[in-house]
Amino acid sequence: MKSTEKGLHMDPFVLFCTVIVLSLVQGAAGASNTTTQLSNGFTATPGKNDAEFEPLLADPTGVFAFGFWHVGSTKLDLAVIHLPSSQPVWRAVPFNPVNWAATTTLSFDGNLVLTDTAIQKDPIWSTNATMGDFVVLRNTSNLEINHFGNDNAPPVWQSFDHPFDTLVQGQNFTALTPLFTANKRYTFRIGIGNIALYMLFGGSQEINYWKHSAVEADGQLYGVVDPQGFFYLHNPDGSKAEQIPFNSFNRGFVGLHRVTLQSDGNLNAYYWDDKQWVLDYTAISEPCALPGTCGSYGLCFPGQHTCSCLVNGTDGCLQTDSGDFCGKGNSDFSFVRRAGVTVEYTDLMLSIPVESLDDCEKTCQSNCSCWGALYVNTSKHCYLMDSPIQTVEVSGNSYQGYFKLRNGSGGKSSGGSGGKKGHGVMIGLLVTLTIVFVALAAYGGYFFWDRRRNRLPRVQLGGPTQEMVQGPYKDLHTMSNT
Ligand SMILES: *[C@@H]1O[C@H](CO)[C@@H](O)[C@H](O)[C@H]1NC(C)=O
Ligand SMILES: *[C@@H]1O[C@H](CO)[C@@H](O)[C@H](O)[C@H]1NC(C)=O
Ligand SMILES: *[C@@H]1O[C@H](CO)[C@@H](O)[C@H](O)[C@H]1NC(C)=O
Ligand SMILES: *[C@@H]1O[C@H](CO)[C@@H](O)[C@H](O)[C@H]1NC(C)=O
Ligand SMILES: *[C@@H]1O[C@H](CO)[C@@H](O)[C@H](O)[C@H]1NC(C)=O
Ligand SMILES: *[C@@H]1O[C@H](CO)[C@@H](O)[C@H](O)[C@H]1NC(C)=O
Ligand SMILES: *[C@@H]1O[C@H](CO)[C@@H](O)[C@H](O)[C@H]1NC(C)=O
Ligand SMILES: *[C@@H]1O[C@H](CO)[C@@H](O)[C@H](O)[C@H]1NC(C)=O
Repeated sequence: MKSTEKGLHMDPFVLFCTVIVLSLVQGAAGASNTTTQLSNGFTATPGKNDAEFEPLLADPTGVFAFGFWHVGSTKLDLAVIHLPSSQPVWRAVPFNPVNWAATTTLSFDGNLVLTDTAIQKDPIWSTNATMGDFVVLRNTSNLEINHFGNDNAPPVWQSFDHPFDTLVQGQNFTALTPLFTANKRYTFRIGIGNIALYMLFGGSQEINYWKHSAVEADGQLYGVVDPQGFFYLHNPDGSKAEQIPFNSFNRGFVGLHRVTLQSDGNLNAYYWDDKQWVLDYTAISEPCALPGTCGSYGLCFPGQHTCSCLVNGTDGCLQTDSGDFCGKGNSDFSFVRRAGVTVEYTDLMLSIPVESLDDCEKTCQSNCSCWGALYVNTSKHCYLMDSPIQTVEVSGNSYQGYFKLRNGSGGKSSGGSGGKKGHGVMIGLLVTLTIVFVALAAYGGYFFWDRRRNRLPRVQLGGPTQEMVQGPYKDLHTMSNT
């Protein structure tokens, strides 16, 4: 393959963010004196800006705390943190991230309610529980809203029923409690007879890229991470469907276990050995088998940990978002052919027997929901891709790939999951800031010029941009130089 190869995990932007986050994590404080119960009327607003985590509620053992968790440099999320490692084991992940600012309030009035008046008057996130009396954090890391005087009643609300990307040992994993990554790109679900990983597109399309079927499955499963180092899958009647062992299985209790859906879409298990999280299980050991490893239209080299592009875009590989080729304005496409490429999850894809490569391509070409096809000349199978093209990997020559490209999308970055998207957003932000800056500078010129005419305009962010856009470019240029 003649192509520029770049390291998988060496994206400098990601590295930069990691360094920032890690250095902030150092500031995460212990919660030795944090209260262990929140009562009706409780309110809190994030305080000093440099803390990575601000605890509001601690569990009786002091291992976990619930509070404000810094997301990026300006936003926050509600989180339950494993204090020795500063690892969030639960996050609220509201639809709209709130500001780490005085405009943000967490209150308890029977419900936990998060508001940010800088965004909207109505709550951004709420537990929707019907009138609980107090909030506690259990030594399991479960955040609970309870009633007084009814110790054996189930909680009115519990974080274990609303997981984010992590299951801790003892937490019930059911069809109603899938795990998600923060960007909602990946999900981990338990289904009828299996557990599986999915990549999501625009809500309706998904790629199922990993599935484990339980050996003694009988219906809709539920699961629990066992402290002894395995994932226990139950049948609906409670009987064993399967026991998936981690490395620490049969070694007795070695420390707190968790299972986490990683931001790259992999599923890992870890245990805490009092110093660090030890990797105990990983669902997918070959990075090229993850559909997002090299982004959309990316090409992955197994064993080498390098990426290039199946189709080049302007900044990295060609980007896709979601949708299909059905309907007016959508139906134009071109295509590329590539020999010797495949994906590792062909057994989870729709496949049809065909006579030839030509049959396979025609099947995809004439079906507007088809994005691409892989033909295997040894078995004469045609595998159909019904979602936007993601990372494919270099393989033996018996595979022939056919991939559609949206017409007019050549080189345009229109979202997608590639690591390059971050750059796109940053560049977009820079361009916007530059435009605003230039506009403001220009407005400054206009302001002084206008003042000489004794009219004092109100300086308003955003307004000037539109105003100056209407003026001739030449005027704008000279004004910004005054
Ligand atoms: C993509 O661009 C690189 C150079 O940036 C080039 O080496 C490579 O051949 C291109 N790949 C394709 C599929 O056009
Ligand atoms: C923390 O609590 C202990 C005892 O409960 C007390 O002696 C100490 O002064 C408290 N520290 C702070 C900073 O409040
Ligand atoms: C509360 O209800 C709203 C609207 O029904 C829903 O979007 C939100 O996810 C709920 N919050 C929780 C924590 O379940
Ligand atoms: C956690 O709390 C329960 C009671 O709620 C108790 O039985 C158990 O021993 C505690 N575990 C630890 C590790 O403190
Ligand atoms: C876990 O969830 C399943 C399915 O909803 C349920 O049958 C089971 O009782 C739950 N177990 C616990 C311990 O909550
Ligand atoms: C658009 O698609 C048609 C086939 O439907 C193709 O012939 C044409 O070259 C494409 N145009 C561009 C600009 O890619
Ligand atoms: C078109 O392809 C999709 C999957 O790519 C498949 O589900 C559907 O049945 C196909 N339609 C026809 C008419 O072949
Ligand atoms: C499959 O295709 C490869 C590459 O074109 C070729 O070398 C091989 O002989 C083919 N195998 C069969 C069974 O047709």
